[in-house]
This record gives sequence, C-alpha cells and structure tokens, in this order.
Amino acid sequence: MCGIVGYIGKQKAAGIILEGLKRLEYRGYDSTGIAIWQDGHFAVAKKVGRVANLEPETAKHRFVGTCGMGHTRWATHGGVTDANAHPHVSSDGQIALIHNGVIENYSSMKKFLLDKGYTFKSETDTEVLCNLIAYHYAKEPESTDPDESRFVISVRKTLRHAEGTYGIVVMAADHPGELVTARKGSPLILGIGDGESLVASDVAAIVSRTQSVVYLKDGEIAHLKANTFSITTLTAGDVSPVIDKVTWSIADAELNGYAHFMEKEIFEQPLALENAMRGRFSEDGSTALFGGLNISANEFRGYDRFMFLACGTALHACMVTEHLIERFARVPVECDYASEFRYRNMPLFRNTLFFVMSQSGETIDTLGAMREAKRKGYKVLAINNVVGSTIAREADGGIYQHVGPEVGVASTKAFTSQLLIGAMLALYIGRMRDMSFSEGVEMVQALKRAPDLVRVALQQADHIRGIAQRYTQYRDMLFLGRLSLFPIALEGALKLKEISYIHAEGYPAAEMKHGPIALISEQCPSVFLVSSGEMFNKVVSSMQEIKARKGKVIAVCTESCKLPEGLADELIVIPECHEAVLPIVATIPVQLLSYYMAVELHRDVDKPRNLAKSVTVE
Ligand code: AGP
Ligand code: GLU
Repeated sequence: MCGIVGYIGKQKAAGIILEGLKRLEYRGYDSTGIAIWQDGHFAVAKKVGRVANLEPETAKHRFVGTCGMGHTRWATHGGVTDANAHPHVSSDGQIALIHNGVIENYSSMKKFLLDKGYTFKSETDTEVLCNLIAYHYAKEPESTDPDESRFVISVRKTLRHAEGTYGIVVMAADHPGELVTARKGSPLILGIGDGESLVASDVAAIVSRTQSVVYLKDGEIAHLKANTFSITTLTAGDVSPVIDKVTWSIADAELNGYAHFMEKEIFEQPLALENAMRGRFSEDGSTALFGGLNISANEFRGYDRFMFLACGTALHACMVTEHLIERFARVPVECDYASEFRYRNMPLFRNTLFFVMSQSGETIDTLGAMREAKRKGYKVLAINNVVGSTIAREADGGIYQHVGPEVGVASTKAFTSQLLIGAMLALYIGRMRDMSFSEGVEMVQALKRAPDLVRVALQQADHIRGIAQRYTQYRDMLFLGRLSLFPIALEGALKLKEISYIHAEGYPAAEMKHGPIALISEQCPSVFLVSSGEMFNKVVSSMQEIKARKGKVIAVCTESCKLPEGLADELIVIPECHEAVLPIVATIPVQLLSYYMAVELHRDVDKPRNLAKSVTVE
C-alpha cells in the first residue's frame, strides 16, 4: 500500500530518498518519514501529510549520511500522526524499520515484548515488529560470515514469527552502510546501480538511477551494501538472483506538461491502445495472438467456461469482457469480486479456465483469489500491466497490457487497455469456435481503428469541461447504461466518486426504476450511455422516465442516435463503432467528466483522499 525507498552508496541519501518518495506518493500518502544513518545513530524526520511537508523537516536535520530509507504511509494500525509515521526505531535505539502491510499477530508479539521491558511510542503493528527484530538482534552473537551477519539472522528469525503481509527495509545502528529487506505479499524491487544499491516498492522510485533491477520474491531476504547484494530465503537457503532490465524510462513517469497524471493518462490512451495491441494479430488478419498464455490452442479450446476475478475498475473491465466473450464466442463467463470469491467457496465447473485482471498485479484480494483457484487445481491466466508483479509471476500464463506506468490513483489507460485485451480475447476464443474468417477480419479491422476513435472522442474534452463546470453543485449522480455499457456506467460512477467525492451509482438503465428512481429530482442528474443499437428505444424510455421526474440528463450518444428533441440537457457525441470497441470509446467521456468535475472542485486528482494506487492489505 505504501511507498518504500532505501539507498546506500556514495551520494547523500536524503535527496535521493525524497525524490523517490515523491514518485511513490501515489501508493499511500497520509504521512511520510525518513531515517538516515549518521554519526553512529539514526537521524529520523517524520511528518503527517505529503512529502512536501517532510522537506522542511529534513532541511532542519542537515542529513549528510549515505545510507537511509524513506516511507509514505497508508495507515492501517493507529491514526495518522507524526508518531505513527515510519520509520520506527526500536526502544533500544538499535533497529530502524519501514514497513508496508499488516502484521496480523502484532498484539501477541507486543505482549511478549512489554514483558521483556520494551516500550512503544506509536500504535502501529510496525513498531512491534521493529522491537522484535531488536530483541533477536540483542540476543544474536556476531557471525563470522559477512552475508549471514547477526543483522540478517535476526531479521530472518523475527519474520518466521510474523503473520500477515509485509515489505520491510531494516537498518541496524552498528551495521552502517547495510540494508536488509524482505517481503511477503508486498512488492519490493532492488535497484543495482553503479557503486550504489537501492530498494523500493515500485520501479518508479529507482528508474532515475538504474534500470537494472531484481524483483524480490515472497519469502526472500536481501542484504544490500553499496557494491554488493545477496539474497537468501526465510529458511536460509541461497537464491541466485536474476537481474532484469526495466524497459521504461523516467520520462514515462513524469507529467510532461499535463496538470495531473490522470489527465496525461487519459490523453495517452490512443497510444496505450496501440501498444496493447501491437504484434497481437495473426498474419491473415482474422484473429488475435497472445504470446504468453502458456496454453496450447488445443487446450484452450477444451475449456467450456471462463471465470474472471478482479477488484474495482479491473472488475468492470472483466464485466465488459464477459459480455464480449459470451456475445462473440458463445462461451459462458462468470465474473466475481476477487475479495468475495476467495472466501465464498463456490461450487465450480470442472472445465473452467480462470483469469485475473489487475493493473498493478499486487492487489492482495486478487492475488488471494488467484491462489484459491490454483489451490483448487485450476489454471489461472493474468491480464496485468506491471511487468514482474506478483500476480504475473504466480499465474500460469497471461497477457501484459503494455501501457507503461499508470501513476494516477484513478485508473484510466489501464482500464481501456483491459477492455481492448478483453475484446481481443473474445475474438481469439470466438475464432476457435463459430466465428467465421470474415467476421474475424471485420473485428480485427474494428479493433485496429480503436485508437483513432478514441482520438475523436478526446476532441470532446473542452465541451465536457464546460458541462463539468455546470454540474459541480450536485451531490448525487446516476450513471446508466445497458449491455456492454452497463459496466461503463459502473466505471463512470466509480471514477466520479473516487476523485470528486460526489456520490454516484451505476445501474443497468432499466433497473433504475426498481429503486434508484426514488433518488431522482432536480438535485440528482443522470448520465446515460447510449448506442444506436438494439437497446436504443428502451434506453430512451428510461431517459423519459427521468425527465418526467425533473431529473437532468447528460447523454453520451453514438453519432447516429436520434434523441427526441429536448430530452437531453447535455449531449456528448462519440463516434459510431463496432460493438467490441464501443465500451472503450464510451469510457472517454465519463473519464473526462469525472476529471474536470474534480478539477473544478479543487480536489487532489492524482491522490484522492483515503485511496492508494495498489491495495496490498485486505
Ligand atoms: C481504480 O480507479 C481504483 N483506484 C481501483 O478500483 C483499482 O482498479 C483496484 O484497486 C484494482 O487495482 P488493480 O487493477 O491494480 O488490481
Ligand atoms: N500497518 C502499518 C501502519 O499502519 C503499515 C501501513 C502501510 O502499509 O503504509 O503503519
């Protein structure tokens, strides 16, 4: 959930860590802190709020040390206070710790430590873990093996008792120039630089210094010095690390003239879609190709049911995919909240192939659901953006989205690329069954046109900004659509809630009269997503029902929709397109509407309150 950065090298660590923290703020941002080893002890600065609040504190400390670590917190245990911010230092002053995740058995650990005389300054689970490391560290004799130092051994011993999830970085006062880092359920990446080593929860914090990285795996402990590093496991086994090259550069994670990452990522969507489909159509132009499925076409053909699991926006992409696979491939599909699936022990059909969708590949609910499906003997494929993520590594195969880093907390380009990949899957599965060559060619042509149609939809930006300015005073809104546009209604409502804090609900348009219509008044506008297809007249009837109750109507319509005069208070026209592309194009106006409403309301668009980009706690 939170951001982690650690550095050891020849440079002053504080500036490098602060720069890294700024790049990670989107992962959690209620408080921040930094610890630098200097003059034989830990110099620590912590502050509630953003990294900008921490900077004056760090100036006061005159940090000069070349080894340190920093953290942006997303509070789980204990309020948002300076004292609860990380890093935590053990009561004997020997150990400093930053932590992402939750230590579930912290209260029994705390009782044990209180009995031994340890004291606590915060309410966090993290400080308990920190003191338990200090306890083992105090008892451990110094070892003669430089890689199996007392420092590493005491962290390993502590972690054997830790239940829950963690990504941690540890410093020991009498092991200057060393960091020990370990993970279970929270991402950590080592950066191998020129005479310097880094560790971070996200590549974004490292990429300005090195593109050589090692993705740490669950159950591994890394011991970092400026010029060397070694990795072992919780059971003290040696690990031969694989050094990967990061393919994106620092420019990908910068604003490049846009006001917000969300704005940049909305406008990047044509390019993101091109990247997501590049090289993924067959030579004869009649089907999709995916390199990493690790399942032969023959095996794929043998499945007679698909199950999609995800959270939030990614689940909305699964719901569109369900519609498209059932429509074009005529295979039954089911979607579920990953968080519910993992505990509800549902009866499952035998010949089912599972998919999980996750931009980050680190969402704990999705990871848990995937592990549950695998435990039951099912193959699970992942549709995922972040290369090397835990979900990507644990899946049996999958499809990378290839849209580059998504920094805005509200997912935009990742969503439309998931919709595109869902449509390509429908094509791929359809072509294995009853979809003809010419239908396949038609769909491939349509998908290839998607980036240009999105460019056309984006030209409505100024018009949509004008609408947003007229609607900021409303506190409730409905988003309504049918068939493949129903999940886009859900997504529009989620986007608006997330970044503008206006209450919004998404419904199938006809369902509105079974309850939500009670909300309709002059004070509750409705956004309708309308296509000229078979449901057009029925959706128009739903609009009439809203108008009859004085509700305002914002209609997002494809070009050839002929709405009755005066029915829509606001009209946003999108190009006519193939059914598989329609959800992608219809998403653009709802993203822009939410974005401009949030800007008008002076919300912190990229870092909305209470949220974090990747949710690695249950
Ligand atoms: C998207 O705008 C949200 N911030 C959130 O719903 C997100 O989609 C969800 O947490 C899943 O994330 P993932 O795709 O990284 O698994
Ligand atoms: N559980 C820890 C806390 O509440 C870590 C939270 C985080 O991941 O930022 O401080």
